[in-house]
Amino acid sequence: MTTYFRVFEGTAFTARSPKEIDVLKDHLFCVDANGIIARTVAPDADDYEAIRQRHADEGRYQRLGPGQYLLPGFVDLHVHAPQWAQSGTSLDVPLYDWLHAHTFPLESKFADLGFAAEVYDDLVATLLANGTTTALYFATIHKESSLLLAEICAKKGQRGLVGKVVMDDPAQNPDYYRDADTSTALADTEAFIVAVKALAKNVKQGVYPVVTPRFIPSCTDEALTGLGALAAKHDTHIQSHCSESDWEHEYVLERLGKRDAAALRDFGLLGDKSVMAHCNLLDENDAALFAATGTAVGHCPISNVYFSNSVLPVARWLEKGVEVGLGSDVSGGYSPSLYDNARQAVISSRMLEEGVDPALSADARGVPSSRIGIAEAFYLATAGGGEALSLPIGRLAEGYAWDAQIVDIALAGAKLPVFGNDVPKHEIFQKIMYLARPENIREVWVQGERVHKRA
Ligand code: GUN
Ligand code: FE
Repeated sequence: MTTYFRVFEGTAFTARSPKEIDVLKDHLFCVDANGIIARTVAPDADDYEAIRQRHADEGRYQRLGPGQYLLPGFVDLHVHAPQWAQSGTSLDVPLYDWLHAHTFPLESKFADLGFAAEVYDDLVATLLANGTTTALYFATIHKESSLLLAEICAKKGQRGLVGKVVMDDPAQNPDYYRDADTSTALADTEAFIVAVKALAKNVKQGVYPVVTPRFIPSCTDEALTGLGALAAKHDTHIQSHCSESDWEHEYVLERLGKRDAAALRDFGLLGDKSVMAHCNLLDENDAALFAATGTAVGHCPISNVYFSNSVLPVARWLEKGVEVGLGSDVSGGYSPSLYDNARQAVISSRMLEEGVDPALSADARGVPSSRIGIAEAFYLATAGGGEALSLPIGRLAEGYAWDAQIVDIALAGAKLPVFGNDVPKHEIFQKIMYLARPENIREVWVQGERVHKRA
């Protein structure tokens, strides 16, 4: 019999597809030394008892307690790490003003490595405590402190995909916060990619460099073309903002004579490892382009309330075969929790479907077939995020990384309202998704290692 690195016994929820959640009751999850789920074993398997006994004897076995459940770790597809320092403030102004009055001044402070360490340490610990095991980060324009963020992810055990942000256009960015010039922006990006790849050699859960033009308005054509080439040369992930707001969308049309999605394609920035944040204003052709290139949408439902003045039609794009995952967009979104964002994704979709659309007659109701439920939101936060990044994460299934959260619904002081012994498991799942708080997340694991435990 194989001896595994660790074996866990418990009931798990994992997404098969946007609408199908598997309930794996009392399964064994056998994790190998690389942190991959080598086998899941149902209680009626012949060797279930033998595996359990063998690993218990060797101290490699952990059984979940009563009231505890396993969920995959969450995948946050869009976090501005430096903006953690301003989370929860300044959300009452439009995007352009917010960037110039609040966000660029804050991000410019990350030239200071001491300040960066303080903010990044706290953010990564907070995300882990909220069940986020993988995060796709925008850092700042500074290559040293961007590398520091990757190092902090590495040290704390989070799977971090990190981008040094590029903003090289002197006409669009303030002098105190932009790349010195285009060639420096590209050289710094390449040096950053090489440094993160070197760091990654010793990181079990993986850290990845990401080519990161902030958005088209902040970059020159030359930088955007150069970044597309760097991503191809080093086979990296790519991230940016796409079709987020009327202002940004109009700006791109005016400057380039084409829509955001087509412009990004022409710069070589769409593809299987590309994740574009927001994308609220995609049209049918843009969505088809995303589906054809394997480009994913990072859906940021809380942030969209404040900055995009629109609701992403998630159900429609999922139906069209576009990959979609969930992003917190700290700090355009005030919450670091993907639980909060999953809840808002459902609420926003319901308001899109059932709200009055002012473009229609006064008594018409919103856009049909828009709604998603909490199962789809869970899919976005887990398997959808994994597919967006083209990594084997986001499911508790064979071949996937052991990235997991143990959620305790019976915890003293943070009990969920579950009464009696006959509440069906799919209702427990819904209650966890709607009502769990960070207090309920007892343990978090990434790639077979425990990275968070509640005292
Ligand atoms: N567009 C360009 N930069 C940003 C940012 O920091 N946050 C959001 N929400 N949109 C952006
Ligand atoms: Fe953003």
